[in-house]
Amino acid sequence: MTYIETKTYDQMAKKAANLLSAQVLTKPHSVLGLATGSTPLGVYRWLIRWYQKDDVDFSQATTVNLDEYVGLGEQDPQSYRYYMNTHFFDHINIPKERTLVPCGTAADPEAECRAYDRRIEALLGIDLQLLGIGRNGHIGFNEPADVFIKNTHVVTLSDSTVTANARFFDSPDDVPRRAITLGMGSILQARKIVLVANGAAKRDIVREAFTGPITPRVPASLLQLHPDVTVLYSEEETPQEVSV
Ligand code: PGA
Repeated sequence: MTYIETKTYDQMAKKAANLLSAQVLTKPHSVLGLATGSTPLGVYRWLIRWYQKDDVDFSQATTVNLDEYVGLGEQDPQSYRYYMNTHFFDHINIPKERTLVPCGTAADPEAECRAYDRRIEALLGIDLQLLGIGRNGHIGFNEPADVFIKNTHVVTLSDSTVTANARFFDSPDDVPRRAITLGMGSILQARKIVLVANGAAKRDIVREAFTGPITPRVPASLLQLHPDVTVLYSEEETPQEVSV
């Protein structure tokens, strides 16, 4: 594992963006695993800037997002599909049909999970997976549990995740209680992993995940077994102009 600590949030975001950009430059048809939340926003801003300067081209890439709330459609501003469109995809030259996000309004969410895994298999896996980390150690919506779950699955969100994500909704009651998330198997099978985290409140969980015991109580701890993980951390809180 490579651990890099930067002074500012923006330096952290820029370094992560550099790794994604290098991935696409060296393999234009890369499969990029992408994440939502506040932390990656600066990463997407850098990539959009470089795309606008003609420094990076996403026309042959495919993206696979980690998760989506059950019940939210793509027109819902709280859905992760909406987040990805507005914060990234609408500003770059990736064909929308090659941007995969689980469908939160699928009639049968379990069938959607199985279909999502099949699509990732057909892509021969993820080349580079960008991850955030929850304060409880979750990655995607793989919440602390008794076991690691390998495949894409429907999860009931923990109270701490619902509380943390309530800031994006009008009321905590509006936060969906269920989500579809990529399982730990697909995440671990990504050929490279870049995890971004910032803010004093994340310092302890980053340390615990990468130096503590490997346990499903801290899902990110499983990343210790991955041979190519870069962790980028900045103590600086997400600046106001970046946060959603
Ligand atoms: P955040 O979320 O970037 O909004 O802190 C990270 C996560 O929960 O994975």
